[in-house]
Amino acid sequence: MINLLHEHDETPPMAAMPLFLVFFLAFLALLHLAMKQQGAARRSKQNKHKKPADGGLRCLPPSPPGLPVIGHLHLVGFLPHVSLRGLDARYGRGGLMLIRLGAVPTLVVSSPRAAEAVTRTHDHRLASRPPSTSAAALLNGSLDVAFAAYGEHWRQAKKLLTTHLLTARKVQSYRAGREEEVRLAVAKVRGAAEAGGEVDMSELLYGFTTDVMCRAVSGGRFFKVGDRTRLFRELLDATAALIGGVNMEDYFPWLLRFGVYRRAICAKADKVRKRWDELLDRVIDDHEGKMVEEEPDFIEVLLSHQHEYGLTKDHLKAMLIDIFFGGTDTSYIVLEFIMAELLRNPRVMSVLQAEIRRCVPEGQQMVTEDNLSALPYLKAVINETLRLHPPAPLLAPHYSMTDVHVDGYMIPAKIPILVNAWALGRDKSVWADAEEFKPERFMGIDVDINFKGNDFQFLPFGAGRRICPGMNFSISTLEIMVANLMYRFNWEVPVGMGCIDMTEVFRLTVHRKEKLILVPKINALRIVNNNFNNKS
Ligand code: HEM
Ligand SMILES: *[C@@H]1O[C@H](CO)[C@@H](O)[C@H](O)[C@H]1NC(C)=O
Ligand SMILES: *[C@@H]1O[C@H](CO)[C@@H](O)[C@H](O)[C@H]1NC(C)=O
Ligand SMILES: *[C@@H]1O[C@H](CO)[C@@H](O)[C@H](O)[C@H]1NC(C)=O
Ligand SMILES: *[C@@H]1O[C@H](CO)[C@@H](O)[C@H](O)[C@H]1NC(C)=O
Repeated sequence: MINLLHEHDETPPMAAMPLFLVFFLAFLALLHLAMKQQGAARRSKQNKHKKPADGGLRCLPPSPPGLPVIGHLHLVGFLPHVSLRGLDARYGRGGLMLIRLGAVPTLVVSSPRAAEAVTRTHDHRLASRPPSTSAAALLNGSLDVAFAAYGEHWRQAKKLLTTHLLTARKVQSYRAGREEEVRLAVAKVRGAAEAGGEVDMSELLYGFTTDVMCRAVSGGRFFKVGDRTRLFRELLDATAALIGGVNMEDYFPWLLRFGVYRRAICAKADKVRKRWDELLDRVIDDHEGKMVEEEPDFIEVLLSHQHEYGLTKDHLKAMLIDIFFGGTDTSYIVLEFIMAELLRNPRVMSVLQAEIRRCVPEGQQMVTEDNLSALPYLKAVINETLRLHPPAPLLAPHYSMTDVHVDGYMIPAKIPILVNAWALGRDKSVWADAEEFKPERFMGIDVDINFKGNDFQFLPFGAGRRICPGMNFSISTLEIMVANLMYRFNWEVPVGMGCIDMTEVFRLTVHRKEKLILVPKINALRIVNNNFNNKS
């Protein structure tokens, strides 16, 4: 989940480092060259990973050769999911590898088998989250869900989310709101199509997912007032920069011993938190004491269960930040990747359009949620996009609470664990034509692979106790939007643009680097009677 992007403040990992560290790294790189031969010798020794003769002492998972101080940071680079897969292929054993990010040993998990060991067999000991100073300051001691350490608070808060807020029934109840937001988005595209122009799909899709989320959270009343939506988006960006970025203290925790450094981090986080506080206080106050109308929104649900779950208003605010932060960016990224992949694969797009246009009754203006169950190819397209482009390619870091033995290796207590979901989805030993976009792979009668955390080659939402609670919410949002964009329009790449650039940028979530600009053409509906169904 933890994520966010936005073009203007995306800071690649290395650029985020203070200048002196860049020089320091350059120096170390030279040192690295000089030590290469020595390293090679050490490597071959390490890779023999001696199994204990007596079966008593276990050894650590294998590591690539590292450097003093920075460990393996220099090997991780701008797209960590990609470079970690490469490192695992070279140095890992059974999908397990131990790397050192600065001063912090970190377990990297890259095979379905190892992912099963970590997120199922040993989940109860590995389902915590690493402590993060920025997140703690921002989220009032991490009294949220996503960053909370494994324990009673996390258990209660997550239970509230899964049993009251994000259940299949509740998600279903926001249907009208979703359909309304889709109608608004489709009207915008139609305006552009009628004018024969282009659409900035990145902007349109991001606006759509934030609007859907705001509507679910506060019934669409609060955020539509004035420029609160803009304020809200700015806040999401600031939050992303704070906890989705690269923080030196996560790699060099000893920095926190310097009071100046610690205070600087807290001051930065406090600023963002004050702005969230102001916004959320107003939203929550708007709700308190109000009679619940037809369908209670997230805030009403949270308020009505607050006491039963022993939560304070601060808890509720931290949970709302989680939901906004975990739920908007991820869905937006997937929508954009779906559109990009469809334009790169015209055959798939025409099969999808044919399926949708065949199933929707003549003259109907919009695909409704009633129609979605008849659209298996649409679901396969979404699954295939999540396989190739999980928006959180390394999930959110897990954290070991005690020593654990996996496959003869010792995983020490108190280290972060990165599960490379991106590598799992492209594992050649389980996926045929792993790098290709082929939704059909999900369609056979004998295929029963899903993302609910039981198929360890496909974990876009994680698995085990930490699995994403927002799965149903996001899938509903994706399905209805893609169905309508494909039903009402034919899509083209702007003249002279050539092909679609799929370059990625990483920041806990990974998104396409370039804006997605497309040209929509209205698809004439088979309208029987023009006097009806004119609402959009
Ligand atoms: C396509 C959309 C989404 C994707 C791909 C996604 C993915 C993820 C992933 C990978 C994790 C971490 C799992 C782990 O650590 O093993 C996560 C956690 C989480 N997600 Fe999502 N998510 C999506 C949408 C949402 C939505 C819509 C919401 C809320 C409405 C949400 C709320 C959360 C929360 C609260 C957590 C923390 C769970 C915990 O730590 O126990 N997510 N998500
Ligand atoms: C959380 O916020 C409240 C006031 O908003 C403050 O009194 C409390 O100390 C904060 N807790 C932490 C752990 O930061
Ligand atoms: C599609 O949705 C409309 C309106 O909700 C409904 O009347 C129609 O029966 C649905 N058709 C199919 C094939 O699902
Ligand atoms: C896609 O994934 C969902 C959820 O895991 C699963 O229920 C469904 O069967 C899959 N559908 C298709 C057509 O691939
Ligand atoms: C999603 O909905 C299905 C039923 O449609 C339910 O079985 C599942 O538990 C729900 N998942 C989550 C994470 O709420």
